[in-house]
Amino acid sequence: APNQFDRIECFDDGLLVVDAGYVRDVGHYAELHASLSDDVSIVDHSGSFVLPGFIDCHVHYPQIEMIASYGEQLLDWLTTYTYPCESKFGDPEYARAVAANFIAELLRHGTTSAMVFSTVHTESVDALFEAAYRNNMRLFTGKVLMDRNCPPELRDSPELGDHQSRQLIERWHGKGRLGYAITPRFAPTSSYAQLRRAGILAHEYPSVHIQTHLAESRPEVAWVRELFPAARSYLDIYDQAELVTDRSVFAHSIHVDTDDLCCLAEQGAAIAFCPSSNLFLGSGLFNLARAKDHDVQVGLGTDIGAGTNLSILNAASDGYKVLQLQGQNLSPAESFYFATLGGAKALSIDDKVGNFEKNKEADFCILSRGATPLIERRIATAKETIEELFALMILADDRSVTETFVSGVRVQPP
Ligand code: GUN
Ligand code: ZN
Repeated sequence: APNQFDRIECFDDGLLVVDAGYVRDVGHYAELHASLSDDVSIVDHSGSFVLPGFIDCHVHYPQIEMIASYGEQLLDWLTTYTYPCESKFGDPEYARAVAANFIAELLRHGTTSAMVFSTVHTESVDALFEAAYRNNMRLFTGKVLMDRNCPPELRDSPELGDHQSRQLIERWHGKGRLGYAITPRFAPTSSYAQLRRAGILAHEYPSVHIQTHLAESRPEVAWVRELFPAARSYLDIYDQAELVTDRSVFAHSIHVDTDDLCCLAEQGAAIAFCPSSNLFLGSGLFNLARAKDHDVQVGLGTDIGAGTNLSILNAASDGYKVLQLQGQNLSPAESFYFATLGGAKALSIDDKVGNFEKNKEADFCILSRGATPLIERRIATAKETIEELFALMILADDRSVTETFVSGVRVQPP
């Protein structure tokens, strides 16, 4: 049955009117083009789809270089691969090089907005904000807070983490389209004192976001129970620290209970569903139907480097398969909803991006219908647009994204 996420509007011969970085109008070419003045230039993308830019609600930019690391599940994967990789980001030059490459990769995949983990180093945050600012992107990141259960070179303290977060908020939050996200890695690597200070900081800066991980794998949940024996649940720790707000994004949230989902829904917090990562690390199957039943906001995340593809279409494709394993469905319209407006809602930026409503920021990508011989052949047999979109969602990757525009300006190819 159709639901609120299942609506999609397609124009066979459409016109998107963009002016000074904003959407001015969208509709049928035949109806709209007469209203344009003579000096408006028209770019023809016939044969392709013009879609709102994709939104990645959870991704780690420093991990782009350790993607596809063999053989471990979450906790061993972190100590074997992730922490050594993240140790390199205290070097500003190194961080700048990886950040520039990461932003270029996002744009190559049609992703125009993202909520991103940096590392514990302020240098890593500066580097990513600089690269996103150069492209005028609506992007969120923050310095990772972790004061225990991690290598000494990646450890801060409640005081240092708070001080550095404040400095970064003052430097970057609200500059261009950038926003700061207070970023405790997850409960195992932060003392309660650190989590609580993060909650207080969020209260002081109500327009700042919060991002962290929640209940990704069973061994992680068991470890959290040992570390916080008094807490009712994993989420309850964050809730006590006042980190569950309408600007919070919790990655994964697979092993949560009904009370947790009610808490997330009541506070207006969002879940980043990261199916590629959950499959790769063997973390579990996210129950999307249950989250939707509880009215919890959900967006899609690639979660590089545990995820194995930067394409949000690929994330939706893996999401479809994860739901199939649970007897659930992800309709084609819903997939594109989660890739765009749903993600924007999860990040509380749906008043600015996510679809082509008038006066929204003009972030969009051009999706080819024939990027590979296989896709071309499959699309040729499709009877309806929605069938084409589903086949594209399952088969498309970066090859299908021919151009990406941010604030009305083409940024890919550069
Ligand atoms: N939990 C804490 N840190 C991480 C991380 O870097 N990746 C994933 N997938 N889960 C985490
Ligand atoms: Zn993650």
